[in-house]
Formats: sequence, structure tokens, C-alpha cells
Amino acid sequence: MKKYLITGGAGFIGSNFVKYVLKKEDVSVINLDKLEYAGNLENLKEVETFANYKFIRGDVCDEGLVTKIFSEEDIDYVVHFAAMTHVDRSIEDAKIFVKTNVEGTLNLLNCAKKAWEIQDGYKQGKKFLYVSTDEVYGDLEDGEFFTEETPVAPRNPYAASKAGAEMLVQAYRETHRMPINITRCSNNYGPNQFPEKLIPLLINNCLHHRKLPIYGTGLNVRDWLFVEDHCIAIDAVINQGISGEIYNIGGHNEKTALDIAKIVVKYIHDNYDKSVTEDLIEFVADRKGHDKRYAIDPTKTNEQLNWRPATKFEDGIVYTIQWYLDNQEWLEHVVSGEYANYYLSRYGK
Ligand code: NAD
Ligand code: TYD
Repeated sequence: MKKYLITGGAGFIGSNFVKYVLKKEDVSVINLDKLEYAGNLENLKEVETFANYKFIRGDVCDEGLVTKIFSEEDIDYVVHFAAMTHVDRSIEDAKIFVKTNVEGTLNLLNCAKKAWEIQDGYKQGKKFLYVSTDEVYGDLEDGEFFTEETPVAPRNPYAASKAGAEMLVQAYRETHRMPINITRCSNNYGPNQFPEKLIPLLINNCLHHRKLPIYGTGLNVRDWLFVEDHCIAIDAVINQGISGEIYNIGGHNEKTALDIAKIVVKYIHDNYDKSVTEDLIEFVADRKGHDKRYAIDPTKTNEQLNWRPATKFEDGIVYTIQWYLDNQEWLEHVVSGEYANYYLSRYGK
């Protein structure tokens, strides 16, 4: 039996991971989430009554609470997703990003260390996995790929806060010999993503015949991975990854924002609403310091953990768009919250 403490389990990837892990035998899950604007318990309806699942609303920065969780529960694995995650928000105000992403990670490391440390090392079978991002590497020229050895050189405040937290995790590995892993994944897509991120934002706007805002030239490249493939990789790393190691996760699936907009428009036009056309695409002011290209070399993860993406982009994107079309109530609930005000402040009416 493995007991997972999953932080940020009400968010996009965290909720997909909670549901993924609970399909396995002999596991139990504690989900610690503050329910920030992107945390949504509707994502977890199907597991909320499971006997081996427990939700705790709380802040990863809260030392008393996290200490209490570790003292009451014999946690084996920490999978740390909780974070502020939207680059555009970090450009507006980076403070909460440093607080949550850096201080929150430090607090979790300290509490895990205290609970797991024994006289000459750590209790058997414990692991702290920090879910990081390819954005810590910064910008990439055409033809190059991020490997685990690529220097960390973040270029926006979100990425800097993720890199700062990573440095602490690596310092605890070196200084305190803590059993850790770090994963650096490319852009995820799939069900339950908060519609401030590109793909659900485009789908939601198509549904309302709103313009589709594309930053700058629309030619910035991201390496898109279906969220369940990320979940499978994280679970492989925590169970089989060599302690202390960093693993890149990505599927060689580069697309520009404009490519993505055209794919979304075409699917909705062909399958749902003929009045949705590329005329909705609108080029808007570029993001400040917009990273031009991210692309992961996942060779180490392929070779050491025998992990490869199971879902082809062509299938995953159809599944994803159709999921949002079929779950418009979910989308409506999200959009009618704080997101609506935030949307107005970013894009106006
Ligand atoms: P998300 O914004 O959808 O969810 C974040 C979750 O963290 C929310 O449920 C939120 O309520 C919770 N949270 C925020 N502050 C908290 C706090 N102080 N205490 C406890 N909970 C808190 O994010 P996501 O896209 O699911 O990303 C999850 C993780 O994966 C993040 O660490 C992110 O950096 C990383 N990541 C994301 C992507 C991606 O494409 N989305 C790619 C690579 C890595
Ligand atoms: P996003 O989903 O915010 O993820 P990230 O910045 O973490 O990669 O953005 C993905 C890409 O889409 C990025 O190049 C910025 C671009 N983008 C737009 O063109 N318009 C938008 O409204 C948003 C949110 C993003």
C-alpha cells in the first residue's frame, strides 16, 4: 500500500493525476489544495466518495497544517503540483508566485524531511516528486531540444518561481540527501484545464462566438502532451525513477499557437457549429518576454523508464475538444466565477 500526498489535486493536471492513481490497486490519496481560482472540486466528483481518497483544503505554505498531515498520516510519496501557473498573471504580479511556488515547496520539503528522516538516512520507500516545467529552460532556437543537462534559464516570473523551487529541491537532495525527483514536462492539454490557458480558452470563445486572441505573430511553438501521458510518466518516475534524478517529459509534438487555433476552429466548424470560422482569429499584442519555442528531448525518460506518450496528438486533441463540447456546464461554472472579471481585465469586452 502506498499513500500519496498530492498537492494541487483540484487543478488541471493534479485532478487528472488523482483520478489516474486511484485506478491502481493498493493506493490511498490525500489531496491538499487551497482551492485557488484554478482549483475546482467538480474535477473530482467521480472519486470524492472513495474510501481511499481524502480531500484537505489548505495552503502548502501552512507549516502547522502540513506538519499535522505528516504526523497523522504515514505518507510515502509527495507529488507536488500545487502552484500558481499562468504566465500572464505572473507578468501582472509575481508576488503570489514566489510565495506559493517557492515558499510552499520549501515548507513541504521541511515537513517531509522531518517526518521521513531517521538516524542514518530516510525511512524506506519515501519519495518527494516536484512537478516542474520545461519553461525553466527558457527560450529555444529552431533545431535544438531541451535535455536534462540544458542550463536552467527562466525568462518569465512564473518560470523563475518554478526554477527557484527546483533549486531548493536540488539543494535538499545535496545537503540533506533527501529522496527526490524532479520532472520537467512540456505543455499539457486535456479535460479540466482552466480556460485561461490557450486550448480551453479558444474552445470557450468559439462556443460564444468571441474573437480568438492570438499573441504576436502566433508563431510561438509549444510541445503539446496529452495530460494522461504526463500522469503516467509522473507515476513511473515516483515508482521507478532513480532517486535524485531529473526527468524530461514530452512527446515531440510541436505546434504554434496559430496551428492550435486553426485545429480548434476546424473541429468545431465541422462537428458542432458551421458559423465558427477562422475569421474569429484575432492577432493581439504579444506577451511580454514571450518565449519563442519550447521542445523537450525525452530520451532519458524513454530509455530509463520505458515511457512514451500513448496518445497521438491527432486523437488527444479531438478527445479534448469534444470533452469541452460535452461538458459545457463545467465550462460555464468555471467561467462564471472569478475568471470572468480576470478575462475582462485582460481582453476587455
Ligand atoms: P492549475 O493552475 O490548473 O492548478 C494548480 C492547483 O494548485 C489548483 O488546484 C490550485 O487551487 C492549487 N494551489 C494553488 N496555490 C495553492 C496553495 N498555496 N496551496 C495549495 N494548493 C494551491 O495548474 P496545472 O496546469 O494543473 O499545473 C500543475 C503543476 O504542473 C504546476 O506545478 C505546474 O507548474 C506544472 N506544469 C504544468 C504544465 C501545464 O501545461 N499545465 C506543464 C508542466 C508542468
Ligand atoms: P499558455 O496556454 O498560457 O501556456 P504557456 O504560456 O505556459 O506555454 O500559452 C500557450 C501559447 O499560446 C503561448 O505561446 C502563448 C499563446 N497564447 C495566445 O496566443 N493567446 C492566448 O490567449 C493565450 C492564453 C496564450
